[in-house]
Amino acid sequence: MTTIGVLTGGGDCPGLNAVIRAVVRTGVKHGFDVIGIRDGWHGLIVGDVEPLTEYSVSGILPRGGTILGTSRTNPFKNEADIQRLRDNIRKFGIDALIAIGGEDTLGVANKLSAMGIPVIGVPKTIDNDVAATDFTFGFDTAVAIVTEAIDRLHTTAESHRRVMVVEVMGRHAGWIATMAGIAGGADQILIPEVPFNLDEVTRHLRARYEKGKKFSIVVVAEGARPEGMKEAITQSAMTDEFGHVTLGGVGTFLSEELEKRLGMEARVTVLGHVQRGGTPTAHDRVLATRFGVAAVGLVEEKDFGKMVALRGTDIVAVPLEEAVADLKTVDMDLYNIASIFYGG
Ligand code: F6P
Repeated sequence: MTTIGVLTGGGDCPGLNAVIRAVVRTGVKHGFDVIGIRDGWHGLIVGDVEPLTEYSVSGILPRGGTILGTSRTNPFKNEADIQRLRDNIRKFGIDALIAIGGEDTLGVANKLSAMGIPVIGVPKTIDNDVAATDFTFGFDTAVAIVTEAIDRLHTTAESHRRVMVVEVMGRHAGWIATMAGIAGGADQILIPEVPFNLDEVTRHLRARYEKGKKFSIVVVAEGARPEGMKEAITQSAMTDEFGHVTLGGVGTFLSEELEKRLGMEARVTVLGHVQRGGTPTAHDRVLATRFGVAAVGLVEEKDFGKMVALRGTDIVAVPLEEAVADLKTVDMDLYNIASIFYGG
């Protein structure tokens, strides 16, 4: 009997439960046992697991978050944790691990795979920055939430003749800002990939004002920074186990600067974790389900060390090594489309 262990690691995102459900339902069809590992890699270190059945995953398809819990635990921080993790894989008879996560979780999966542990990766993140897949699930939901927020901010911006700055998630890549900014008709989109010039941003917004548009919407990704600033603006110097700081604050910085420079009132809205919570869109449910089914297919074929990925409309398997080698940053052709609408 094959036993699959499944875990979710890193920041949560809508669609995780849809993957878990698909892994269990497909696994059962293949005659596999499925064990849920709680709280990401932490659960495998301390041996916190639960058997998953069709009954335990019933009704979770539309639910946000993850029924397994998640953490940013990095087992490679400590040699002894890797030994505990190996011991628990043996203890629970896990023949295949399915790790659902972003750059950090998949990075750990890749290292474990290199050590001979049979792992399959499933890419998730609202940031959409995992390489080797066209899209991660969770992203479409986040874009829909941000687009709705921009639509709502438009009406109040117009009433008050204000500059509205919307700060969205996007640590290394500005996918959410770019897609939602285009969808919502933003007047400026600022992303980590392209350091911004405050004079230029001010010029675009002033040009718009002079044309008679007395309000503006600026969408900024949390990892974006002005030219000349070496690091992104952070909330504290503390880092997680993968060395990431807590970002946030660029929206306030921008709104204060723009208010001064334009002599107009400005307000900031930080969308934060609202972007990660709640029910996934239909698109994300389907993508997550397809990923879960494909991951179990790879277990069946014993094709380990791979990550399931979306290429065009197909689900394919790519080496984990390739998936974690780089981050997927914003396509500049797409980003440049947005700028056609600035100043208008
Ligand atoms: O999931 C990725 C991400 O959304 C980043 O954009 C953001 O910096 C981070 O998560 C924040 O997560 P948390 O507050 O859970 O540490």
